[in-house]
Amino acid sequence: MIDGKKVLLSGMQSTGIITLGNYLGALKNWVDLNDDESIQCFYAVMDLHSITVRQEPAALRKNGRILYALYIAAGLDPEKNCLFFQSHVPAHAQLAWILNCYTYMGEMNRMTQFKDKAAKHADNINTGLFTYPVLMAADILLYQADMVPVGKDQMQHLEIARDIAGRFNGIYGDVFTIPEAYIGKNGAKIMSLQDPSKKMSKSDENPNGSILLLDDMDTIMRKFKKAVTDSDGFIAYTDDKPGIKNLIDIYCASTGKTPDETVKEFDGCGYGTFKEAVGESVAAVLKPVQDKYHALIEDKAYVDSLMKENAEKASYYANKTLRKVMKKVGFIELPR
Ligand code: TRP
Repeated sequence: MIDGKKVLLSGMQSTGIITLGNYLGALKNWVDLNDDESIQCFYAVMDLHSITVRQEPAALRKNGRILYALYIAAGLDPEKNCLFFQSHVPAHAQLAWILNCYTYMGEMNRMTQFKDKAAKHADNINTGLFTYPVLMAADILLYQADMVPVGKDQMQHLEIARDIAGRFNGIYGDVFTIPEAYIGKNGAKIMSLQDPSKKMSKSDENPNGSILLLDDMDTIMRKFKKAVTDSDGFIAYTDDKPGIKNLIDIYCASTGKTPDETVKEFDGCGYGTFKEAVGESVAAVLKPVQDKYHALIEDKAYVDSLMKENAEKASYYANKTLRKVMKKVGFIELPR
């Protein structure tokens, strides 16, 4: 609790430009919480997590700034929400180390995302990738978060955070709040435009699979035109037509319409017409975000001042928890 408010924490990695899937599935839902006075929200740019896969330093720097500006451009109010960089708050790395000593190899070995990523990056299976969930637990537990909005793919990591917190509390008394998953009202799950069995991802090798938040109108329209569908030639909302179903989901998330309304609206239309409408609806949603983004990224002094203020605010809460943890474990407080 902070000032009588529940605490919510989430974040994204700065490994690339986020996708329409990240926006419709997560960021847009975070923005909906702006006006909820009963919740204090923390959203971080998870750059420490980003280096579990090798990053080009210049690209990491650039993508971090872009993501931070996109948080704000998408509508997260930097006065109401604490928007910060994970690497600006050293307590994340410090608590992660401590929690590493309360986490078992066996628990980490079971993590499906580690197995997937290890297979994908066989040339760089580093121990940071292995203990990634412990750092994520530290992110959450430092702020005594009550709620964590996560997608299905991060559920296992949230479970581990709960287990670690419970274990630590069991030894030392009530130190950590046990976090719960927060399920947003309309957490659209957007799939790849090239392979609707896979989640739309910013690290997809096929650039046509993902709409990036900074794609221009032409690129958006071109990617939708190329979207994989089927050869039936009619619009229906069913699992047997995953490509069309995904396009309908995107259209609904962009327009606020329901799948039923959408199917009726495009009754008798060809896929070409439908794809164009979906592309236009997405471009219309992204336009104001992009406009605001371009203005913000020009205003370096303003963004820098936000970074600084917010890192201080985050550090205040994080250090409070860290001090408590260090004391419980038996470290000596630095004499003043
Ligand atoms: N692992 C998350 C992802 O890739 C990002 C993340 C890091 C996160 N720390 C977090 C999400 C803490 C929620 C809470 O999507």
